[in-house]
Amino acid sequence: MNYKIALIRGDGIGPEVVGAAARVIEAVGRKFNHTFDFTDVLMGGCAIDETGKSYPDGTAATCRGCNAVLLGAVGGPKWGHSTDPDKRPETALLSIRKDLGLYANLRPAVLRPAMASACPLKNDKDIDLLIVRELTGGVYFGKRDRYMTEDRGEEASDLMAYSVQEIERIGRRAFELARLRSKRVTSVDKANVLETSRLWREVMHRLVGEYSDVTYEDVLVDSMAMQLVRDPGRFDVVVTENMFGDILSDEASQITGSIGLLPSASIGDGAPGLYEPIHGSAPDIAGQDKANPIATILSAAMMFRYSLDLAQEAAAVERAVDAVLAAGWRTADIAGDGVFPIGCVEMTDKILAEL
Ligand code: IPM
Ligand code: MN
Repeated sequence: MNYKIALIRGDGIGPEVVGAAARVIEAVGRKFNHTFDFTDVLMGGCAIDETGKSYPDGTAATCRGCNAVLLGAVGGPKWGHSTDPDKRPETALLSIRKDLGLYANLRPAVLRPAMASACPLKNDKDIDLLIVRELTGGVYFGKRDRYMTEDRGEEASDLMAYSVQEIERIGRRAFELARLRSKRVTSVDKANVLETSRLWREVMHRLVGEYSDVTYEDVLVDSMAMQLVRDPGRFDVVVTENMFGDILSDEASQITGSIGLLPSASIGDGAPGLYEPIHGSAPDIAGQDKANPIATILSAAMMFRYSLDLAQEAAAVERAVDAVLAAGWRTADIAGDGVFPIGCVEMTDKILAEL
């Protein structure tokens, strides 16, 4: 088969890690007899420099013409302070999620066997949880305002809104994903305070009836933050709204050793999915061959699984990564004391050799 992949290399270490993943994708093509055509798409800080806009016109259309989108990272201090949304790299990220209808963000946090000692917790269980973050609603997309009031001076507000339909579709995704795993769903909200959370909980409880083979629980977000470090091994699928998911997924990444290892998938109904590491552009190490390519390579594996229906190919990539880690190879972010780190290119070479 022939597949078209959009590559958004982006800023900072983005080009290095996407370059690494593209090499792995091509190797998978040779091994399993597929061809992959890459289309470069300009987005983020580099797009501001070249076109004046972080999200150039036509970006979404180009991506829609592909089977999947692989993204490195966008942003960096160089573009940090503009009040003009066109000049902020993050605008591009939010726009592409919205334009492609990518309402479900899948962020697995897996403590890979070879990395067990990197877990900072007293942990005796396997950690293998999947955060399902709602990605196109809530406070990220509500009305923002800045205004003067008579009695309190300057004020700002960000509106958090959720419709039943938005909650229901992400809920269904979570239950369906749980059916492919350990059949447990934890729904995280702040229903003791927020009206959006009370609606969220009501909708989830309606779904519980339909998915009676799945075990369900509600957890308040503050308690979840605590339980994630106390006993992460007890969770399977964790479904939550946009901002809670943003925060909890960074927390979950750290208990698996490094943010440099964790991939993500953003998917909707039908349109191409978008795959990216959950780490950022790490401008401090950009261009020095120090970045860890594993999160992006594992994102490519998720792309095989969720957008291209190539489960065997996905498993082959994941096995290769595990084998290289088991053999002791480490990039600087996961090296720990007394281990000599290898660079981004060499780590990719090792993974290719395993493949
Ligand atoms: C993420 C990032 C983005 C988000 C930022 C850069 C807008 O933190 O993908 O988690 O908050 O969604
Ligand atoms: Mn984040």
